[in-house]
Amino acid sequence: MKSLINITDLSVEEIEELINIANDIIANPDKYREKCRYKKLATLFFEPSTRTRLSFEAAMLDLGGSVLGFSEAQSSSSAKGESVADTAKTISCYADIIAMRHPKEGAPLVAKMNATIPVINAGDGGHNHPTQTLTDLLTISREKGRLENFSIGFCGDLKFGRTVHSLIHALSRYDNIKIYLISPEELKLPSYVKSDVLERNGIEYIQTTDFEETIPNLDILYMTRVQRERFFNEEDYLRLKDRYILTPEKLEHAKEDLTIMHPLPRVNEISTAIDEDPRAAYFRQVLNGKFIRMALILKLLEVEI
Ligand code: CP
Repeated sequence: MKSLINITDLSVEEIEELINIANDIIANPDKYREKCRYKKLATLFFEPSTRTRLSFEAAMLDLGGSVLGFSEAQSSSSAKGESVADTAKTISCYADIIAMRHPKEGAPLVAKMNATIPVINAGDGGHNHPTQTLTDLLTISREKGRLENFSIGFCGDLKFGRTVHSLIHALSRYDNIKIYLISPEELKLPSYVKSDVLERNGIEYIQTTDFEETIPNLDILYMTRVQRERFFNEEDYLRLKDRYILTPEKLEHAKEDLTIMHPLPRVNEISTAIDEDPRAAYFRQVLNGKFIRMALILKLLEVEI
């Protein structure tokens, strides 16, 4: 039985199929209203979330299914010392599919190894966030009409930003992608991602600290927040958090058809004055997250479409 722990668990063809199903759901929502009748999704969130948890729940409800779960570790028996493995075995008795977010890297993999139902990684520490990546790929495909031949700039916290790590993994399998990595020295992309993903796959990339100089080169700008919860030292966070802020002035020399993305939540890194700019795709990205998660649930539950 299939689960989704890393984005590379899915082939490029499987991702294309999910994007096609999501586009069909957007075009024909009524066709899908009863597809998961009597099916239950458990959302096990040991870390805060707004979009991922609620979009999973909205996705299952829009498919006619039901949802159960918890939104913080303290309200589950993990607060009494229960292991992830035992939690997964327990939830397998109550639900048909699990979406799990956990602060520890690898926790969803442990859940998968112990569950008897499919497990979806909804974000594990600074490691991976594959359903955000599916959301991002659907967004790029809908905004640009393609998943190859573009320049993308990742800006902000590239060290701890799991959405960045997952999306770079995914994009390394498409043709002619040029990547700009814009971050302070302290928040650079981990060297294992550079060597194991970018260099191994021959992906052209440029590392820089210069945001304004880079923006005119980009077809897609992927902003990220500095991940306060992963810092050991509050002083470092305060020093780095406002290093890159996208303002209308900084977009003066950007391409007319630039696509501005952000996995959200936003803290300070995109001025709200940009929200009405047609190039700002981040709230369309939020909506796409529900549709691609609907497609994923259908595929993992092997529902006939
Ligand atoms: N993009 C994302 O993962 O948002 P949440 O933390 O609100 O789920």
